[in-house]
Formats: sequence, C-alpha cells, structure tokens
Amino acid sequence: MAEILFIKHAAQLITVEGHTATPAKKQAMNKITVIENGAVLVKDGRIVDVGETSAIEAKYPEWIAHAKQINATNKTVTPGLIDPHTHLVHAGTRENEYAMRLQGKTYMDIMNAGGGIHATTRATQEASFEQLYEESKARLDKFLLYGVTTVEAKSGYGLSLEHEIKQLEVAKKLQQDHHIDIVSTFMGAHAIPLADKNNPERFVEEVVNEMIPEVARRGLATFNDVFCERGVFTPKQSRRILEAGKEHGLIPKIHADEIEPYAGAELAAEVGAISADHLLRASDQGIEQMAERDVIGVLLPGTAFFLMAEFAEARKMIDRGVAVALSTDANPGSSPTLSLPFIMNLGCLKMGMTPEEVLTATTINAAHAIGRADTIGSLEKGKQADITIFDVPNYLTLSYQYGMNHVDTVIKKGVPVVVGKQFQ
Ligand code: NIG
Ligand code: FE
Repeated sequence: MAEILFIKHAAQLITVEGHTATPAKKQAMNKITVIENGAVLVKDGRIVDVGETSAIEAKYPEWIAHAKQINATNKTVTPGLIDPHTHLVHAGTRENEYAMRLQGKTYMDIMNAGGGIHATTRATQEASFEQLYEESKARLDKFLLYGVTTVEAKSGYGLSLEHEIKQLEVAKKLQQDHHIDIVSTFMGAHAIPLADKNNPERFVEEVVNEMIPEVARRGLATFNDVFCERGVFTPKQSRRILEAGKEHGLIPKIHADEIEPYAGAELAAEVGAISADHLLRASDQGIEQMAERDVIGVLLPGTAFFLMAEFAEARKMIDRGVAVALSTDANPGSSPTLSLPFIMNLGCLKMGMTPEEVLTATTINAAHAIGRADTIGSLEKGKQADITIFDVPNYLTLSYQYGMNHVDTVIKKGVPVVVGKQFQ
C-alpha cells in the first residue's frame, strides 16, 4: 500500500516554483508563488500535486480517502529549508573567545594567537568518532526543529588526512542515520596548521597531493572549499587547491572576502565555483564577474552579526544579477547558531532583502548552491516531499517576528518527522 500524505487548508502555501532549471535572479527572486487555502498531495515520498485544497480534493478523491491528513489551517507551508553552508561536524564550543571579542580582540587576532579555528581543530582531532557523531547529531536535531531538511557540511577542523576523513566519515554516517540530508564538502584548506606556520606551502602540497585525491577516491565529498583570506590561504594557493579539486571531480566553493577584500569573488568566477560564500567585503568587480559567470552568492549574515562586522551587500548583488542564497555558517567561532529562520530575519533587517527574496534564498537558490535543485527546494510535482509548516498565518510574519521558532511540522521525504514541535 502506497504511503499517501495530504496537507490541506494551508493559509498560505509557498511553492517557490519555476526556478528549478536555473537559480532565481533579480526580480525573479521575488516570485515565490503563494496559494491561499493550499494543499499538497504526496505519495511514496514525492509530490504528486500542489494547488488549492478544493481543486486537489476534486482531482484525487480516491487517494485522499486513503491518505494521512495534516490540517494546516492558519499555517504557512514552505519547501523544507536548506542550509547550504555549515561547519556541522566539530567538537566543542568557543564561548571564551566570544568573551575576548567583547573586550575588543578581533577574530583574526585570536586565530593568529593559536585559538579560533586552531582551538576547534585541537578539540576535533582529540575527539573520538563517536563523540563527534553525537555532538553533530544533536546539532542536526536542532536544525530539524528549525525547519531545515537538508544541510551542506564541511570538514576543515581535522587539518590532517586522518582527521579530515574522520569528520567526513561522521557526516557520511549521519547522512545514513538522520532524517536530514547532508551534502559534504572537503575543506582541508580551512587554516594553515600551527606546525606549518612558517612553511604554508608544505601544507598546500599535502592538501593537493594527499588529501584531495584520497577524499575523492573514497567518494566522501562533492565540493572542495578553501578559506581564501589574508593570513590564511592566498588567492594563488586557493586557486591551486580549487583547481586540484576539479581534477578529482570536486566542485569548487570558496570562503571569499569575509574579513578583508582579497579578490575572492573574482577567483570564484575564474575557477567556475558553484558558489562564493560570505562576500562581506567583495569588490564591485568581483560581484560583476560572479553575475557573469553564474556563481551563486551564499550570504551568511549571522557571521557579520556575530563578528560585529559590515554586512554583505545583498541588495547590490541581487540588483546586479547574482543569484543569492542564505545560510547559517553554523560553526563555533564566527556563527554559533542553528537557526536559519533567524538568518532570514537578518537578511531582511540587515541586508535589505525582501521577505520573498529570503524565502527564495533559503529554498531553491540554496538547493542550487549545493547542486540539488533537481530534487529539492520547491514544492512542485515530482520533487522530493521535504516540507516545513510554520505556525504563522502568512509568510511575512516569518521575517517580521524574530528570535522565535515558528516551525510546527517538518516532513522529510513524505514522512512527518516533527509534528506539533515534537520529534515523532
Ligand atoms: O565560515 N572563515 C572560516 N571558517 C568559518 C569559521 C570557522 C571557525 O571560526 O571555527 C567561517 O566563518
Ligand atoms: Fe564557513
């Protein structure tokens, strides 16, 4: 017997349809398609149809008679949210550094003194597989309660072949065990290990000649990312690492222009990266090149908020034709949050995005940023039934009321996994 699910009477059903072939840009980012009194019919984990409740009821009476039903009266239904940039798998927290930053120390000061990413690297190297698994699983549970059904997850706190692989293996096991889908990124080039401080080229060679081939051989990652930043990896080293990944089938991503302008956006365009992320200090030329070369801009306003920095120029990027996605950047140093809805609030309040644009940026454009738009990111016939139901009567309320969790129900592959804010 087929598993059938019928969600009906949604005050607003937001489909974000029509952007599957290419990411939404410019005005198209505002086209989210709102169906009042909406319904979704799901069979065997896939969306059969979407429309007004009465129309769907009239079209599929037999199936609906056998369906499990969810009444979404007064609620808003959206595609399951997608977080396209997280540092999910790591050990420990860094609240001590937060206290130091509140006293005036900068993020880079702390990292250069052996803290920051190095502190989390020490904790992650020391952690057992089981410990990393449990910590990361707890984070995924919270993501799910915030309406997220797919995350990208980066390595980069191992900084040696053994420990990078440990992180990626944890992500792989979580992908098998957890409701949330995980798309993995290798980020061995996240920091120069302290031992290589005076000879960073040695580590670049290790990443290029040992880590990338082995990670690719084991099929542990889809993407290859690098922290291109003054004092970390230069544009030249970053290019070498991203080109090496390409030779092994790993698609480039890049942490670009996060702290200082460093031609990261330009590099993303030149190497054909699927996305350039952060972009707080991206140059106008870099933005133009990204638009021309179809590089998605993954913006992480939680990081600007938490580092008390200038926000990325989302308005300029969208108006110039960059497809923008939003993400938490969940990590213990620069963005310790698991709330993508809060990031949506910041998108509107701090980056001048419209409520419609932030929905596009956390659904279909986020799906494009991780190469999954063919199966997720919108509520359309044939797509995987990943659906989030918010306890608000309209989508505007999502970007209006902030710092609260409005998620009521989460459906993953057609199965209600959170109902009434509780795990099932
Ligand atoms: O995206 N910038 C580099 N990586 C992370 C921060 C990692 C950390 O501080 O632990 C980021 O901001
Ligand atoms: Fe990051």
